[in-house]
Amino acid sequence: DWTIENFIELETEKIRQQVGDRKVLCALSGGVDSSVVAALIHKAIGDQLTCIFVDHGLLRKNEADDVMKVFAEDFHMNIIKVDAKDRFLSKLQGVDDPEKKRKIIGNEFIYVFDDEAGKLKDIDFLAQGTLYTDIIESGTDTAQTIKSHHNVGGLPEDMQFELIEPLNTLFKDEVRELGTQLGIPDNIVWRQPFPGPGLAIRVLGEVTEEKLEIVRESDAILREEIAAAGLDRDIWQYFTVLPNIKSVGVMGDSRTYDYTIGIRAVTSIDGMTSDWARIPWDVLGKISTRIVNDVQHINRVVYDVTSKPPATIEWE
Ligand code: XMP
Repeated sequence: DWTIENFIELETEKIRQQVGDRKVLCALSGGVDSSVVAALIHKAIGDQLTCIFVDHGLLRKNEADDVMKVFAEDFHMNIIKVDAKDRFLSKLQGVDDPEKKRKIIGNEFIYVFDDEAGKLKDIDFLAQGTLYTDIIESGTDTAQTIKSHHNVGGLPEDMQFELIEPLNTLFKDEVRELGTQLGIPDNIVWRQPFPGPGLAIRVLGEVTEEKLEIVRESDAILREEIAAAGLDRDIWQYFTVLPNIKSVGVMGDSRTYDYTIGIRAVTSIDGMTSDWARIPWDVLGKISTRIVNDVQHINRVVYDVTSKPPATIEWE
């Protein structure tokens, strides 16, 4: 009889058998899959697991702290958090092409991971959160040819690890159930898809600290209001983007010339196609008011009403 409880029992036993008294490394991104794989392996072998969490400075508001709180403080996992913000931002300086940004971030991630992994001794295994769908879809992902999807967790070629992929028979909904069963909180188990390059592809054009801050703050407001309206599990992805344009506005008696924020919210089954989400006007109105009031340098908010195709979900 297949149940999540049986799965945990069988898989943890299997992992213990396979690993013995050796050590496992895991790249933790804070996403659902890597979080669940880390929690499962930790349940099986405890301190023989070490996670590396690379904070590239392109995460959403509070995300890095939330991940550390759950896995380091609550689960007591061995986690090495790498603050690589400066490294990534300096590499991104002056770069405005979306594909170049993706490449730089993907490569830099591997260098950082490699540096940290190289400091560890006697690691034999690498754990990855590969799902069943990742296996059956690989090679047929047409989105891949449109945008290069550098997922966090890419493996340096000269690293010699045996792979452990305990989720590779599961679908996403089963992974969420497993995560909940393992005690991972809802904000991680139900986290919306978030691209590896993070906010760098939501700041259109060159990425700067100031622009990242604008996206981060407006995105936090959007997420808060979507959750407050009870819409967070109905919408596939919802986020803000900062197009590289300024427009005229008015505040009190004076003219302003400031940035526009775009809101993107879509419904989808798998991210391959999507429709724009019919968020109630009142909810959109509230989000807009809060963003212009609370986020500096924003004087206009627009809502993206295109489906995919012809648009893509992200703006870059
Ligand atoms: P698009 O924008 O191509 O996105 O419609 C489809 C899905 O993929 C995500 N996405 C990415 N994920 N690295 C990732 O890991 C990337 O470079 C990347 N670009 C897009 C996007 O958020 C959506 O879920």
